[in-house]
Amino acid sequence: MKKFYDYYHNEVKLSFEDHPFKKDPKHVWVICRWQEQWLLTKHKERGIEFPGGKVEPGETAAQAAIREVSEETGGEVRSLTYIGQYYVKGKSEDVVKNIYFAVIDELAVQPSYFETEGPVLLKELPEKLRTNPTFSFMMKDQVLPYSLERVQQLVE
Ligand code: GTP
Repeated sequence: MKKFYDYYHNEVKLSFEDHPFKKDPKHVWVICRWQEQWLLTKHKERGIEFPGGKVEPGETAAQAAIREVSEETGGEVRSLTYIGQYYVKGKSEDVVKNIYFAVIDELAVQPSYFETEGPVLLKELPEKLRTNPTFSFMMKDQVLPYSLERVQQLVE
C-alpha cells in the first residue's frame, strides 16, 4: 500500500491488490492505449486526463469503465484489465476509484463527448505534469506514475 498526498493535499492510499478498499467502488479511471499512443480526454474544466467517472446505478465498475471511455473519447474497449484501486480522503467526501488499463480498438468520431472536448492522443506523457496547466489535477499525484509502472509490467 502506497500513501501520499494529491495535488490538493488530500490524503491518498493506493494499492494494486484485488479491490482492497471497496468491493463495488463508485468511481473508475481508465489508462487507455490506442495504436501505440495514450488515449486521453480533455475535460472542459479540469483539462487533459485519462477518461473515467462515476459508476451508474445497475452498472458494474467494469461496465462503467467501458462506457466512460466511449462517452469521453469515442474509443471502443477491446480489452479491459483491472490494475488497482485508490482511496482519496476528500474535503467533504471520500472517493474509492478502480484503475483499469484498456486497449482500444476503434476510435469513433462522435457528435458529443459529454463533459469533455473529446479524445487527446499523446505519443508520450509530458514529464513535468504537476506544473502543466493544460493537465487535470488527477494526473498530478503519484497514482499515475505507479499505475503506469504496473501497465508497463503487463504489456512486457
Ligand atoms: P460531480 O458530482 O461529478 O460534480 O463530482 P464531484 O465534484 O462531487 O467530485 P467527485 O465525487 O468525483 O469527487 C469528490 C472529490 O474527490 C473531488 O473534489 C476530489 O477532491 C476528489 N477526487 C475525485 N476523484 C479523484 C481522483 O481521481 N484523484 C484525486 N486525487 N482526487 C479525486
